[in-house]
Amino acid sequence: MIELHEKIDVPRPVREAFDYVKDFRSTREWDATASAVEKLSAGAVEVGTRFRVTCDMPVGSVDLLYTVTHLEQDKSIELHGTCRLFEVTDVIHFSTSATGTHIDYRASFSFHVPLGPTVAALRKGMEKMGFESVQGLKAALEDDYPAPAISAGNARADRWVLPGIARFSRRGYTLGKRHWNPMSAWMGDKHAVITGATSGLGLATAQSLAERGAALTLVIRNESRAQELVNTLQRETGNPNISVEIADLSLMSEVERLVERLLRTGRPIDILVNNAGALFNERTLTPEGLEQSFALLLLSPYRLTEGLKPLLLAAPQARVINVVSGGMYTQPLKVRWLQAREENYSGSVAYARCKRALMVLTEQWAEAWEDEGVVVNAMHPGWADTPGVESALPGFHRITRRILRSPEEGADTIVWLAVATEAGKASGELFLDREPRTPHLLRKTEGDATERDALQPYLDSVTAAKKRKTPAKRRSGARKQAATAG
Ligand SMILES: NC(=O)c1ccc[n+]([C@@H]2O[C@H](COP(=O)([O-])OP(=O)(O)OC[C@H]3O[C@@H](n4cnc5c(N)ncnc54)[C@H](OP(=O)(O)O)[C@@H]3O)[C@@H](O)[C@H]2O)c1
Repeated sequence: MIELHEKIDVPRPVREAFDYVKDFRSTREWDATASAVEKLSAGAVEVGTRFRVTCDMPVGSVDLLYTVTHLEQDKSIELHGTCRLFEVTDVIHFSTSATGTHIDYRASFSFHVPLGPTVAALRKGMEKMGFESVQGLKAALEDDYPAPAISAGNARADRWVLPGIARFSRRGYTLGKRHWNPMSAWMGDKHAVITGATSGLGLATAQSLAERGAALTLVIRNESRAQELVNTLQRETGNPNISVEIADLSLMSEVERLVERLLRTGRPIDILVNNAGALFNERTLTPEGLEQSFALLLLSPYRLTEGLKPLLLAAPQARVINVVSGGMYTQPLKVRWLQAREENYSGSVAYARCKRALMVLTEQWAEAWEDEGVVVNAMHPGWADTPGVESALPGFHRITRRILRSPEEGADTIVWLAVATEAGKASGELFLDREPRTPHLLRKTEGDATERDALQPYLDSVTAAKKRKTPAKRRSGARKQAATAG
């Protein structure tokens, strides 16, 4: 039997320290020996929840199957692990200390084979490993990381353009994650609104934020999918605080009604994720007469974010996250091009122009709202294998399938921008793989101040024109049909 015993004090309330540790997936962030962790049971972490932790140990790489055997919220958690070489029992006690939380961590290993004369060397190696792991936990809970900065490797890749674009693939994610900091921020008091949460990146974001305990309002357009979506997320994450708002975000009347409903609740919004989107290969006008890409990808997040600003201001430090696209690297901002015309319509170009404009809005909001405590950032997911990519770009999807990121990998930077403490230290930036990246790979997209200054007045003028055309009576009648579920 080898016993390890470590104690640390961390400047966090017991609740936060306990919740971070009890989801044992966090070991991936603080235990240098844990190279992969999976939660094998659905729902909240409780007695019986199982995890698989792949550990690189002095005795070799092992897959440890852990089961939670005892859990007393905010006091103690006990896990039993088993693998081909040994059994381990981890007993972790939490108590309030003068500076936050005292954590007492014991791990007892009993080996399946006699260790003989190697036991002393093995004990020494494991003691070192135990010390380093618990120091890793201390650093994770201290959560005092600097503001995000681009790494030398990514800066170099972006300068050469093509290597930068190559990192949109899964490889960029794999390279990036080697250097990431733990995310231990407590989300139990946060309210996140996520648009487009039925599939792809939005669904992966919803899942991850729900697992971290945030209350969610999911904006989706298809009412018949609402209940199933809520049930599935609640069952898988154990988080009961998930509700749905129904709105077709390509229709400004529905965006407005959504804003009205959310404002009526008065519930502060800590995180707004403008994610809903699609690439339209055919040019179509919405029933309101707007070009569809423009309506969904640009005017909708503009109206939604502006409309919800009182609720963003009501949160202590709100974060707005705009999901843009690497496609915007091909286009400058030209306001007169934003509503694509019939002649020479290209879905990819219309899409890229709207994403470029959303990036510019990100920069403008960040500057304007700096003193009001709202941070605004954009991210692009690289290339992720989602239903949206498969249906809009079937050829691209077929060729690149093997190098595409999973939806979770694509959504990782959205989650990081929503959760990580250090992400709150940046505003007005574009992120990929948790690093700020240049918004321009090519000089030709840099645009000029006249176009930037014209953007918001143009969006306001389109909104005003639509309102003039929609009689007040029709607007209020439609309002009554608004549906909510959850
Ligand atoms: N995947 C990538 O590689 C990639 C790359 C760059 C940027 N992006 C961006 O990432 C975001 C998410 O895309 P994704 O790849 O995850 O695609 P996805 O799987 O198709 O998800 C898009 C989401 O947006 C919703 N949506 C579409 N039109 C809507 C409307 N009119 N009203 C309300 N919701 C609507 C969809 O709802 P329904 O289920 O009802 O259709 C779905 O929930 C988009 O903004 C996209 O431009 C993705």
